Amino acid sequence: MSLPEVVVGPDTVILGIETSCDETAAAVVMGGDDVVSSVVSSQIDVHAEFGGVVPEVASRAHLESINPVVRRAIDDAGIDEHRIDAIACTVGPGLIGALLVGVSSAKALALAWNTPFVGVNHLEAHLYASFLEDPTLEFPLVVLLVSGGHTMLVEMKGHGDYRLLGRTIDDAAGEAFDKVARYLDLGYPGGPAIDRAATEGDPGAVNFPRAMMDDGLNFSFSGLKTSVVNFVRKHPEVSSVDIAASFQQAVSDVLVHKAMKAARNVGATGVVLGGGVAANTQLRSDLQAACADDGIGAFLPGREMCTDNAAMIAAAGWHRLRALGPSRLDIGAFPSMPLVEAGIADG
Ligand code: KG4
Ligand code: ZN
Repeated sequence: MSLPEVVVGPDTVILGIETSCDETAAAVVMGGDDVVSSVVSSQIDVHAEFGGVVPEVASRAHLESINPVVRRAIDDAGIDEHRIDAIACTVGPGLIGALLVGVSSAKALALAWNTPFVGVNHLEAHLYASFLEDPTLEFPLVVLLVSGGHTMLVEMKGHGDYRLLGRTIDDAAGEAFDKVARYLDLGYPGGPAIDRAATEGDPGAVNFPRAMMDDGLNFSFSGLKTSVVNFVRKHPEVSSVDIAASFQQAVSDVLVHKAMKAARNVGATGVVLGGGVAANTQLRSDLQAACADDGIGAFLPGREMCTDNAAMIAAAGWHRLRALGPSRLDIGAFPSMPLVEAGIADG
């Protein structure tokens, strides 16, 4: 069964769908960068009592939310479904049960509406969040992609043309935020909790280690987490806001230092920030200052576009559809889908 081809241009309307982790999201985006509607239904409350995302619980919550969320995105856009030219959906990486809810719904809608389907790599979509705000960004760019599951530096040479420059060898930056917040009892999810606590703390209070600073472009965060735990055990008198601020500063210093090194290495026009940790206040201001010092751009998507959303899926879907055409309807979901071999979704 094949679906119609679509000519992709400034009027092309894409319905994006995202269910890779704990957000059920749908959005309508026109021309790859005009966000007409964006709906995100977060499962934070559902998972808070467990202190982390429970995969089976996430899948069930996606199942309950997917239809109402898609309906609201279309209603908010003020269009009728016949105006939708293609459906873009995250096919990986992510939790398999969660991904399958979005992929199955997207394929069912594609069949019911006789509309092309395009499978999108979630990591690639995070790279595209910046293009929603500034579609005129010039290549080459260095992207610092920092989320709950990934921490990587990527050279973006053109649309769909990536080179992995560095990545974490252990914990992702977001994972370190979440674990340290849990240890300090600051709440869930950990990143925003540390961000909030840090506003009242002194980032210079404790000099936590900055791992692998002068050692290539890879990162390591598990030692930092251990050193926070050891410090708190030895110094219970130091306030958790000072610990939060000092930890956050250590993470930001490493991320910014390596992103700037990568930008110099590849002669980038600027650094693009993506992924949930890109919402971090300290990281945003440190990166902006470092890019200004080097005379290059700092491209920071709005905070709601940093964390998981479907507008970025529709944006990446628009570029993918234009370059490669629709995906086959028999492609599955890919829990460990890498960024660089994103072509796996070509089907
Ligand atoms: O990209 P995302 O929404 O989901 C994944 O694809 O992983 O990222 C979620 C991660 C979580 O670890 C969360 O704690 C972190 O992003 N995060 C933050 C902030 N907001 C979310 N980390 C630091 N500061 C924040 N303001
Ligand atoms: Zn994400």
